[in-house]
Amino acid sequence: MKLSVFFITAIPLASAWHLQLYRDELYKNVIEDRDGSLGQPCKDLTGSKGNKISSMHWKANGAIRTCEIVLYNWSGCREAGGILGRSRGDWNLPNFSSQAN
Ligand SMILES: *[C@@H]1O[C@H](CO)[C@@H](O)[C@H](O)[C@H]1NC(C)=O
Ligand SMILES: *[C@@H]1O[C@H](CO)[C@@H](O)[C@H](O)[C@H]1NC(C)=O
Repeated sequence: MKLSVFFITAIPLASAWHLQLYRDELYKNVIEDRDGSLGQPCKDLTGSKGNKISSMHWKANGAIRTCEIVLYNWSGCREAGGILGRSRGDWNLPNFSSQAN
């Protein structure tokens, strides 16, 4: 299973977030592990990470959920390609759908 492109749009405030992306389903073989307390601009997954994500952990810490993750289908943060999903709360995906693929 693959995800074409991935971006994070985390709105900065007090909350922290932690993102882990795995090559294989059921959270095996982490290929991206990031956390922070501030937002980050949209980012393409390219090279060996492009089209290689099968599962994901997203943890939006804090009582007030101010960080949001958005998964885009196309590169460059273009909504025209469709948004595969977004969440302000914790979001664990054990196996990306074939649509996200
Ligand atoms: C993602 O983009 C591809 C290529 O343009 C398209 O075929 C597919 O339907 C899109 N998927 C979603 C979920 O929008
Ligand atoms: C993940 O989904 C694919 C089909 O999209 C399926 O073949 C595979 O068995 C699933 N894996 C698990 C662990 O559910």
